[in-house]
Amino acid sequence: MIIKPMIRNNICLNAHPEGCRKEVRLQAARVMNFRERLSKSSINDSSAKPNHALIIGCSTGYGLASRLVAAFGYGAETVGFSYEKEPSATKPATPGWYANKEFDRLAQEKGLFAASFSQIDAFSHTAKQKAIEIALENKFKYDLVIYSLASSVRVDPDTGVLYRSVIKPIGRQYAGRTIDIFTEKFSEASVQPATEEEITQTIKVMGGEDWQLWIDALKKKDLLAPEALTLAYSYIGPPFSWPIYRDGTIGQAKLHLEETAKLLEKNYGKDNGLRSFVSINKAVVTRASAVIPIIPLYISTLFKVMKERNIHEDCLDQMMRLFSERLYQKRGTGIPTDEEGRIRIDDLEMGPSVQNEISSRLARIDESNLHELADVKGFRSDFLRAHGFDVPGVDYERDIVSFE
Ligand SMILES: NC(=O)c1ccc[n+]([C@@H]2O[C@H](COP(=O)([O-])OP(=O)(O)OC[C@H]3O[C@@H](n4cnc5c(N)ncnc54)[C@H](O)[C@@H]3O)[C@@H](O)[C@H]2O)c1
Repeated sequence: MIIKPMIRNNICLNAHPEGCRKEVRLQAARVMNFRERLSKSSINDSSAKPNHALIIGCSTGYGLASRLVAAFGYGAETVGFSYEKEPSATKPATPGWYANKEFDRLAQEKGLFAASFSQIDAFSHTAKQKAIEIALENKFKYDLVIYSLASSVRVDPDTGVLYRSVIKPIGRQYAGRTIDIFTEKFSEASVQPATEEEITQTIKVMGGEDWQLWIDALKKKDLLAPEALTLAYSYIGPPFSWPIYRDGTIGQAKLHLEETAKLLEKNYGKDNGLRSFVSINKAVVTRASAVIPIIPLYISTLFKVMKERNIHEDCLDQMMRLFSERLYQKRGTGIPTDEEGRIRIDDLEMGPSVQNEISSRLARIDESNLHELADVKGFRSDFLRAHGFDVPGVDYERDIVSFE
């Protein structure tokens, strides 16, 4: 069977097995080059590094990039959790299912321990129990725990109640221009304000409650190494996106993550204890990026401006910089943060000159000057690659005989 992308309303409904695997191999190769550069550089010393990393949300986007950097950049043994669909006789799996398998294969090739779970709900007690069992069986403690979940639903593990997250403004309607990244047609999107119940539910799904449950569970079994590091990822973005993002339902959940980071450090930070941070990352294209109004247009313009200035970064570039220039510099060097205690790796995106240029372009962008002002092709390519399409070196005319 020849597999072509099936796209509906900026959502890709299928994946290309070989493309997904190849994409992971290409990313791992980039990380190995980075490792070479790192070993020659004087910025880092080898004693500051992760040894046993737990990645919650490991199969795509920022979680996969973090895991690749921890394993192939620093030689860490990794345990990863994700929620992906397996293939059926008639349908390929979701992209992360292939990514996990390829990651495990590459890790095995390098003699690195890796355990990947593609179908255990990270919000469940079972997932925490599994992470505990693996550490006990293999006699290690986690020194890095990365929380990189993006989910629209969560079942509370104690009550069984299902909560849903929504991306909505708070207090008033949001209206903004958006673009279909495949037809390149502009349209006005409007989103009604969230109800109190929707705000509460979004915080329940995307806030810090589950992150805290993970850390509590590991701490209770004494499975966090001295000075272990835990991070959750967040985004701030430019003020014009705040009504739908930072000041909206997701922003409330992200504030809760920030409060949780402080709480975790308060609870477990004393005497050589846990260090806990929210890292504010840059806007990149992942599976869900295209569905938030304004975001595809903003990211496409951001890509164009950053590429013109040779400062463009994708997920992997971000994570290589996060690890080498924030988390693991020379031993004894603190982790740089902003005044709120957050790690900022969105610094290049948020620079005033980049932001001014984007604002000026967005004020005049339309269908006639789209390619001159924005990199829609780059957005589209990253989006397709996240589903295994448009990956260099893959023969897309080749018959796929198995979806495994
Ligand atoms: N994409 C961006 O531009 C961007 C920017 C800054 C910060 N972030 C943040 O980074 C984090 C990760 O986002 P992403 O864009 O990489 O998302 P993504 O969709 O690529 O990855 C989400 C991961 O969560 C896993 N997952 C979802 N539900 C799960 C469940 N119930 N159990 C186990 N695993 C589950 C998926 O399998 C996947 O591995 C989010 O907190 C997001 O807000 C994203």
